[in-house]
Amino acid sequence: MNIALLTLLADAKPHTYSQICQTLALDSATLMTELEQLQQSGIQLIKEEQHCYWLPTAELLDRDFLQQALPHNHLIIKPVIDSTNQYVLDHLRELANNSVCLAEYQTAGRGRRGRKWLSPFAGQVILSFYRTFAKDIPLSGLSLAIGIAVARALTLLNFQQVQLKWPNDIWLAGKKLGGILIEMKQHSDLSHYQVVIGIGLNVALPTEITLDQPIAMLSQQQKIDRNLVIKELILQLNSVLDLFSEQGLTPLLAEWQQYDLFYQQPVKLLLEKQQLSGIEQGITAQGELLLQTEQGEIKAFAIGEISLRGKE
Ligand code: ATP
Ligand code: BTN
Repeated sequence: MNIALLTLLADAKPHTYSQICQTLALDSATLMTELEQLQQSGIQLIKEEQHCYWLPTAELLDRDFLQQALPHNHLIIKPVIDSTNQYVLDHLRELANNSVCLAEYQTAGRGRRGRKWLSPFAGQVILSFYRTFAKDIPLSGLSLAIGIAVARALTLLNFQQVQLKWPNDIWLAGKKLGGILIEMKQHSDLSHYQVVIGIGLNVALPTEITLDQPIAMLSQQQKIDRNLVIKELILQLNSVLDLFSEQGLTPLLAEWQQYDLFYQQPVKLLLEKQQLSGIEQGITAQGELLLQTEQGEIKAFAIGEISLRGKE
C-alpha cells in the first residue's frame, strides 16, 4: 500500500491527478495502479475525471472539537502512522504529560506480546496516552485501571454489556471490542516512569474483515461519532489516572468486578508450559488474577506471558 498516497488523500478533499503525480513524483499509470490497490484494501475512493477523493465510511477525527473539549490534554492527530504507541515512545522527550496521539490508520498496530492489531481506516478509536508516574507507584494494576476508564466511558455513552477480560481486553456483548497495550521507558536518571497507554476500540469495520477470534464493534449497538467516544474516553482516562496515581487499583476493585467477563465462571489459564483450570475469583489490588483451582486452593497470577480463556 502506498502510505504517502493514503496520507495525501486522508483529508477527504478532492485532489487532482496531476497534483498528486507532481507531489508524489509518480507517473499517471503508476498512480492508477496505486489507487486501485488502496481500493482493494477497503479504502473507498471516488474517481472522477480530473480528480479523486477518499470517501470516509465514518466521520474523521475532528481536531478543533477534540482540542476544545479536552483543554488539559495536548492532542497529536495523525491520519496515517505506523503505531501511535511507537510515535509516543519515539517522542517522549518533547511530549507534555497527558499528551494523546490519535490516528485514523496504523500500518503496524500492535497488541500484547507482539501480536498484530488490525486498524482499518477511520474504523476505530486508535489512541496512545502519555503519562508519567513517580517511581514509588506500583504499576502492575495499571491496565486494569485503564479498563475501568474505557468501561465507564462506554457505559456513560449508553453501550450495553460492556465487559473486561483480564488483563487487557474490552468486550462488548460477548466479543472482543478492543484492547489495551501499556509500554514504558525507565530512565535511571529520571525520578519517574514514562508510560504509554495504547487503546484500540473497534467502531465500524468493513464487513470483509475476519480475525482469528470473533470481534465486536460499537456500531452494532448504535451509530456514534468517534469524536464523542474519544472525548469521553480521554475525560475518563484523566480522572482514573489521577486516582490511580494517588491510591492505586484498590478504589477501583469493586467496579472492576462488576465488569469482569469471567467472574465466578469456569476458566482456563494458558501458561507458558501448562494449562490450569479453575473458577475465576476476581483480581487483587496488584492486578493479579485469582483462580480457585480444581483442588480448591486460591492462587494468584501476575500479568505476563499468560492468557485467560473461558472453559467451553
Ligand atoms: P490474551 O490477551 O488473552 O492473550 P488476545 O487474543 O486478546 O489474548 P492480545 O494480544 O490481547 O490477544 O490481542 C491481539 C489479538 O487481538 C490478535 O491476535 C487478534 O486476535 C485480535 N485483534 C487484532 N485486531 C483486532 C481488532 N481490530 N479487534 C479485535 N481484535 C483484534
Ligand atoms: C491487545 O489487545 O493486545 C491490545 C491492542 C492495543 C491496540 C492499540 S491501538 C493504539 C495503540 N497503538 C498500537 O500499536 N497498539 C495500541
